[in-house]
Amino acid sequence: MEEMFPLLLILGLVTSLTAWPAVDEFNVFDYGASGVGQADDSQPFMYAWRDACNAETHSASVIVPEAGTFLLNPLMFHGPCKPRIIHFIISGTVIASGSPETWNGLDSSQWIAFKNVTGLNVYGSGLIDGQGMQWWDQSCRYHPNKEGCTKLAPTVLKFLSCNEGTLSSIYIVNSPQTHLLVLDSKGFNVDNVMIQSPQDSPNTDGIHIHSSHIIKITNSIIGTGDDCISIGDYSSNIEISNIECGPGHGISIGSLGKDGEMVLVENIHIRDSSFKGTTNGARIKTWQVGRGNIRHVIFENLIFDSVDNPIIIDQNYCDVRGKCKEKKSGVKISDVAYKNLYGTSSTDIAITLNCSRFVPCSGISMENINLASIKPGKSLSANCINVHGTEVKVKPRSCLRN
Ligand SMILES: *[C@@H]1O[C@H](CO)[C@@H](O)[C@H](O)[C@H]1NC(C)=O
Ligand SMILES: *[C@@H]1O[C@H](CO)[C@@H](O)[C@H](O)[C@H]1NC(C)=O
Repeated sequence: MEEMFPLLLILGLVTSLTAWPAVDEFNVFDYGASGVGQADDSQPFMYAWRDACNAETHSASVIVPEAGTFLLNPLMFHGPCKPRIIHFIISGTVIASGSPETWNGLDSSQWIAFKNVTGLNVYGSGLIDGQGMQWWDQSCRYHPNKEGCTKLAPTVLKFLSCNEGTLSSIYIVNSPQTHLLVLDSKGFNVDNVMIQSPQDSPNTDGIHIHSSHIIKITNSIIGTGDDCISIGDYSSNIEISNIECGPGHGISIGSLGKDGEMVLVENIHIRDSSFKGTTNGARIKTWQVGRGNIRHVIFENLIFDSVDNPIIIDQNYCDVRGKCKEKKSGVKISDVAYKNLYGTSSTDIAITLNCSRFVPCSGISMENINLASIKPGKSLSANCINVHGTEVKVKPRSCLRN
């Protein structure tokens, strides 16, 4: 009996080799992509995706080779897929049509989207260029009187209901609006990405997280015309670390509760990051009409270089300053810790904690904070309204009382 084992083993190996054809790589060139950046290569990408997604293998890869520039029209890569793991390897350059007309009759909120794919890994040292200039030129944000101005422009990359996924080693530039959106996803890591758009480009958030849980964003460089990273309603267990932010509006929780929604944002840890020339640093902003909670937030080991508002809570957020009347409602903000924050402020108020009379902020703690003015010798101040908490070694002295 014992001699039979090696033979059975070999037989088993041979059958498994023949039962699993080794095709698990799907190169867009094999599907007719031109790769010269002129003709629309969307169809070849869709076919490569279809075959990778339906492959009878444990893992499958879509390959976008280094040797090409691929023009893509708006497209969605849909799951669920058969392989447990899908690699989408972008080594080349992917560009959008620069013309907003391409979106006529289509959903102008998106360009490239992945939906309902578990175990998706997008990576590969490539460049994704949203070619947003024409969108910026017609945006209502900066051109409110322009006829036909647009409020909604495409997000470069959306991950919708993508659990256990990663995005890494990718360079994303010039999005018409938000660069990267993670929505309705659980267990998604963003690592080692670089995101860049001009400082004056409208609404170009770097990364926006919404209704998502167990998300990590690490080791990334982000400079845009809006928030480097923003966290929206219904998000929890978010870890953000080693981010270089600037230019931009900082790392923001919010704005939350714009249309009176119930919000819940909790267990957020933002650490070991730097801000250079940004309008805000550690920011929380909520609309008075919102309801619900932001709680258990830690901002830790942050460095500010010429930041307008290094530390800011604005519970009275309004898109037009002074336009929103005082309301009795608000999103409750509690248990927020600021620890080891250093650097320079470019305005005279380095710490602003502006909370609501009716829903005050509570459990706010500050420890080891040292902020100085960019103007030598100029002293800074802190401004707090309706806040309860404690402070240890805070400069400028804040206004937290026990
Ligand atoms: C999403 O994928 C799951 C399997 O992973 C499937 O059961 C579900 O129907 C899919 N939903 C949609 C909207 O495609
Ligand atoms: C706090 O917010 C209210 C409402 O937006 C505003 O009127 C007030 O000036 C703010 N206070 C500070 C100190 O920023």
